Amino acid sequence: MEKKFQRILYGGDYNPNQWPKEIWDEDMRIFKNAHINSATINVFSWAKIQPSEEEYNFAQLDEIVDMLSEENYDIVLATSTAALPAWMVKKYPEVARTDYEGRHHKFGQRHNACANSLVYQKYAATLAGKLAERYGDNERIVCWHINNEYGGDCYCEKCEKAFRVWLKKKYKTLEALNKAWNLEFWGHTVHEWDEIVLPNALSEGLFDDNTAFAGISIDYRRFNSDSMLDNYKMERDAIRRFDKETVITTNLMGTYKGLDYFKWAKEMDIVSWDNYPSYDTTWSFTAMNHDLMRGLKNAPFMLMEQTPSQQNWQKYNSLKRPGQMRAQSYQTVAHGADTIQFFQLRRSAGACEKFHGAVIEHVGTENTRVFREVQQLGMELENLGDATLGSVNESEVGIVFDWDNYWALEYTSGPSVDLTYVKHIHQYYKFFYDKNIGVDMIPFDADFSKYKVVVAPVLYMVKEGMREALEEFTANGGALITTYMSGIVDQSDNVHLGGYPGPLRELAGVWVEEIDALAPEQSNEVIFDDGTKAKCGLVCDLMHLEGAESLAKYGSDFYKGMPAATKNKYGNGVTYYIGTDIEEEGLNKILEMAVESADVNPVISEKSELEITCRKADNHSFYFVMNFTDKDLQVPSSLAGNMDMLTGETVKEEEILSKYDVKLILVDN
Ligand code: GLA
Ligand code: ZN
Repeated sequence: MEKKFQRILYGGDYNPNQWPKEIWDEDMRIFKNAHINSATINVFSWAKIQPSEEEYNFAQLDEIVDMLSEENYDIVLATSTAALPAWMVKKYPEVARTDYEGRHHKFGQRHNACANSLVYQKYAATLAGKLAERYGDNERIVCWHINNEYGGDCYCEKCEKAFRVWLKKKYKTLEALNKAWNLEFWGHTVHEWDEIVLPNALSEGLFDDNTAFAGISIDYRRFNSDSMLDNYKMERDAIRRFDKETVITTNLMGTYKGLDYFKWAKEMDIVSWDNYPSYDTTWSFTAMNHDLMRGLKNAPFMLMEQTPSQQNWQKYNSLKRPGQMRAQSYQTVAHGADTIQFFQLRRSAGACEKFHGAVIEHVGTENTRVFREVQQLGMELENLGDATLGSVNESEVGIVFDWDNYWALEYTSGPSVDLTYVKHIHQYYKFFYDKNIGVDMIPFDADFSKYKVVVAPVLYMVKEGMREALEEFTANGGALITTYMSGIVDQSDNVHLGGYPGPLRELAGVWVEEIDALAPEQSNEVIFDDGTKAKCGLVCDLMHLEGAESLAKYGSDFYKGMPAATKNKYGNGVTYYIGTDIEEEGLNKILEMAVESADVNPVISEKSELEITCRKADNHSFYFVMNFTDKDLQVPSSLAGNMDMLTGETVKEEEILSKYDVKLILVDN
């Protein structure tokens, strides 16, 4: 168990630089009153700190750092490199990005730098280094926050050149590259490295954001992710020259598509992320995001941002209902967070985030519902002290999440445009969530042997080594669950020839001959051996048994009677192959079989509609019990008699939790 911090950081983005100094004292007083102990500063101040190419001015930042240090705040110090200063774009237009349509951008917005601009790289790294040199030995600084929400992409000529270099390193020869991208197709063979262009609307763009060569686009995604990661590493290394110890992070965005976060996490000391569910995001989806962020390093993470009340950038920015922010915060801790931080501490007066919630609202006083809720949570977290820090979530189930697969599945042209990656992963996650079965979100090269069940939905791309790893896992007694659109292509998006699901064929004991695609208004049904039926659609695999047994068959169409879901003994284990998108009840029937045969245990044995997770410390366990339903629900009786750490009271038999109520129950191991 490793504690990265001394206490749960409670605070968030704080931009006193946007306010007159008279307000700062008032801020300090109000934060103390809210039991806020941390502030994230300097996220967007590049133009202030470096007003021109030659000039650096840290006067105001010095004052802010001093003020917060004197008041004993834990400071998260950002490097400010996520929005270009105007002078830089004016003097060096190359630092701005060129978009998918090929338009070169002017000054404006944020997250706007070309990752392959040497000018940007030089000034970003210099700034990070100067900040570390100046503030690195301040003990109140507990974390470095590099840039902000890295994302987006660039299609400029510098990126094109850098792409060629990246490709040369990967493929060594043009022959290998032509083969990997299957460039004989449409006669796209290249004979010189500089014939390679970036895949955008001006080149390989098809419809939507698809391209004629998914293989090129997937490599571009990898390259773009690596380019930004290099930016991150450059700043990190600049900081490390002056500060050897303080943890370094950058704030991620859950299932954000653009960056391969598993690769990123290897370079980060701790994962942090920004959680912005919208009014219709399900709690299971948010839980999955947390588990993914924990899974990146298989370790506790930071919640770098959430809004105390409302967002501005979604279509409909509903208020968080009374108790909702508190419940959301505990759900975050329940899944592995060691910090709770807000965006932001004082609501901005102008520009596009003036309708974004904050701890201090426009009225400027503590006399608000939002403040009172922040204050209550602050008190509770303060009382928890460092108890939960570093404690671990243990899971018997692993769900594979893989950015290469994310890209490949969504780039591929056919069989259905509705084959989106995250939605399908969540469909499977939800089954376990509803049963309070802990899940780790794992990379394709995880140590599968830790798990009783491994779920790999839409494992479209099976990369080198994966077949062997999954076969070993299953042969040793594991239960593998995989689905339609699995085992189809290799790492370059070329089909594993010889029949679907390619490398998984033996493991699944089936051969998929054809894949039908059903429009949203079309459906088929699956019929289980016991006669129960469930609707299915999206895609239907037409498969033949090659050792597997059928669990359910199609109910109509010309493939009526063919197997739709199967089970195959493999060594000491078993593979479940689900050949079509089955509605929840039917899908759950199959997942239920898998869970039962693999003897998977929920966090507590009693069934409950409450969300319950467990984090383990050395001598005790923390059970987080949360009600996200509209009903009053009873706390499982096996938890009664233990202490609720949030109230200090003993949990009674038949204790009732209403919507958004939370208990954090301490149980000795
Ligand atoms: C992101 C950014 C913040 C802020 C919030 C608003 O997460 O990191 O700077 O813009 O969104 O929700
Ligand atoms: Zn570029």
